[in-house]
Amino acid sequence: MNPYVLYVDDDSANLVVFQSGLSGALPILTATSGEEALALLKQHEVAVLLADQRMPGMTGVQLMEKVRAEHPDVVRLLITAYSDLEASIDAINKGKVDAYFKKPWEPAELTLALTQARDRYIATKWTRELERRLVATERTYALGVVAAGIAHELRNPLTSVSLCLQLARQLLKEKPFEDEQRQAADRNLVDATRAVEAIIEITAAMELSTRQREVASIDLKETVELAIRSVLGEVKARGRLVKELSEVPRIRASRTQVGQVVLNLLINAAQALDEARRSTNVVKVSLKQEGPSIVLKVSDTGAGIPEEVLGRIFDPFFTTKQDGGTGLGLAISRQIVNELGGAIDVDTVPGQGTTFRVRLPVPEVVERKQ
Ligand SMILES: Nc1ncnc2c1ncn2[C@@H]1O[C@H](COP(=O)(O)OP(=O)(O)OP(=O)(O)O)[C@@H](O)[C@H]1O
Ligand SMILES: [Mg+2]
Repeated sequence: MNPYVLYVDDDSANLVVFQSGLSGALPILTATSGEEALALLKQHEVAVLLADQRMPGMTGVQLMEKVRAEHPDVVRLLITAYSDLEASIDAINKGKVDAYFKKPWEPAELTLALTQARDRYIATKWTRELERRLVATERTYALGVVAAGIAHELRNPLTSVSLCLQLARQLLKEKPFEDEQRQAADRNLVDATRAVEAIIEITAAMELSTRQREVASIDLKETVELAIRSVLGEVKARGRLVKELSEVPRIRASRTQVGQVVLNLLINAAQALDEARRSTNVVKVSLKQEGPSIVLKVSDTGAGIPEEVLGRIFDPFFTTKQDGGTGLGLAISRQIVNELGGAIDVDTVPGQGTTFRVRLPVPEVVERKQ
């Protein structure tokens, strides 16, 4: 982000003096009329507008009023002769102008003021961006809560449907149907049972995403399987999924939170894959015990992480995704893993792929002495 300072003055000699006075300290655009300034504002990102008050056609204050309406974040500074001082003060009081400078201006003073104004613009913009991302995160979270609620409500009726289907199959066996008819009906019931079981699994995964935050003794293999199922579609759209999951000792943790870590890593892996290379892309998930640790690895054969980015991937709000990444996935995952006494690290080769490794301590077995 390198937004401009736009200086507007109908006297082009002043523009030249201004540019040499600033001697390259800030990126500058110049215009000789209000109309020209408005056109430039549409084409470039401008942080600070500095305008002379006395210009034929549109005056400085009139220009500021328009800019306030159309580009409210731009910091507006007016340059004014002594005779116009009253009009300038009035403009400040009405919020049309942020500050004014009297002619003739002092280059050092003006440079400092412009630098500060530009910094203010950048800080405001950055804050807006953070707010936008927070709102997006909250919305995603709220959506998750709603989805989990619906999933929860669906669970009982779905379980009943599943039981009814089993019962119907049982009854069918006892009825004196023609053999062929009976087989056809039974096949339909088997298909229906499978479909219902698939729905039950999906709703279980939806619930996992926000419910059950409470800490319990959990089976990691099962938790990982469930997380995999809920993003299987996204992964399969871009490549093959390979699982190598061993039974590991149970740990005390929140199923939701551990599931969230796996989900974040899997989604990142899927998003790193180039869709055009679907036939050779692979995402691999492995789980096993290695001495005192339980090790979960999620690897992909995707883009890899460039070195200049690597140091920041765990920072909250750091994202390289153009459309809609919050940059919270890895930050939250690391927080969760750290709270469990574990660690998360990454190994990557740009152009070849990335492996994220989560290590969690195997709980000590407490032996009770009699
Ligand atoms: N498997 C991966 N391959 C390549 N880059 C990755 C991988 N995982 C993470 N990254 C990089 O790390 C950045 C931060 O990841 P993080 O999960 O925290 O946020 P995000 O994925 O950008 O956004 P969100 O998770 O909210 O959708 C990503 O934008 C991406 O640049
Ligand atoms: Mg992510």
